Amino acid sequence: MALRLDGNILVTGANRGIGLELVKQLAEKTGKGAHVYAACRDPQGDRSQVLRNLITLHPGKITVIQLDMAHEDSISAAVEVLRQKTGAGGLKVLINNAAINKPDPPAPLSVTGKKDMMEVYETNVAGPFILTKMLLPLLQRAAKTPSADKDHGDELSCRRSAVINVSTIFSSVEKCPETFTLAQVYPYRTSKAALNMLTRCQAEDFKADGILVAAIHPGWVQTDMGGDQAPLSTQDSVLGMLNVMSTLSSKDTGMLLDWEGSRIPW
Ligand SMILES: NC(=O)c1ccc[n+]([C@@H]2O[C@H](COP(=O)([O-])OP(=O)(O)OC[C@H]3O[C@@H](n4cnc5c(N)ncnc54)[C@H](OP(=O)(O)O)[C@@H]3O)[C@@H](O)[C@H]2O)c1
Repeated sequence: MALRLDGNILVTGANRGIGLELVKQLAEKTGKGAHVYAACRDPQGDRSQVLRNLITLHPGKITVIQLDMAHEDSISAAVEVLRQKTGAGGLKVLINNAAINKPDPPAPLSVTGKKDMMEVYETNVAGPFILTKMLLPLLQRAAKTPSADKDHGDELSCRRSAVINVSTIFSSVEKCPETFTLAQVYPYRTSKAALNMLTRCQAEDFKADGILVAAIHPGWVQTDMGGDQAPLSTQDSVLGMLNVMSTLSSKDTGMLLDWEGSRIPW
């Protein structure tokens, strides 16, 4: 089934895990009007080989962008490349997917220090904050661009312009008593709770520009981060996330949803 997503779509952390599967399914399931920008730290490195293979499989559909979310100069350079490449269409969807979880789970308090906290915040919070801020003119451009397929009126949607922040159920303050014993991961939990607030603030800020902002929990997924005990494959998680993204509307802006579209309490 074709996805109701089109235009220029940027995915960060695109060389493995959920990000790689997002690029794969977006390349496979979107129509001619969609182009996927796959951002990763080391496009020429061994860890990007599968991504490079995908590009060969989908000629003209995917462009790789060098981007390290922990370095502002790298973000700035990537934004300039995107500005030139996306042209008048701007950027329709930004998926802030790249993230780290340090120290390795279960990461109790005793083994967690300030360095872990700062590193995780830099990648998981400051990175998406700066990237989204710098990309705002491109998102605004997409939101204003007339499109035959655009939702009517001033409805917010991913087909108009949107920022999707990949969060986690571990970010939920309300769910913490249920989830804490699974993995303490203080830096990761607090960084994603901050990402949720970033989502909420940007949703308010960008509403007038016609840009939707939402956070999505992908489920517990079999990736390097999720581990092999996770119940969900990357394929099922991403299929769910993309279906949810296809149907997001004004009522969802500023919300935290899971990959099946259910709302998660803050
Ligand atoms: N897997 C789960 O069960 C699960 C559950 C809830 C939420 N999530 C969220 O889902 C998203 C994807 O997770 P995943 O499971 O796919 O993780 P993953 O397998 O560990 O992949 C993480 C991705 O982020 C990239 N990345 C890390 N630091 C970066 C930086 N400074 N700049 C650019 N890219 C960077 C990695 O690139 P390198 O190869 O260069 O390191 C990699 O592509 C994350 O936001 C995560 O918090 C995952």
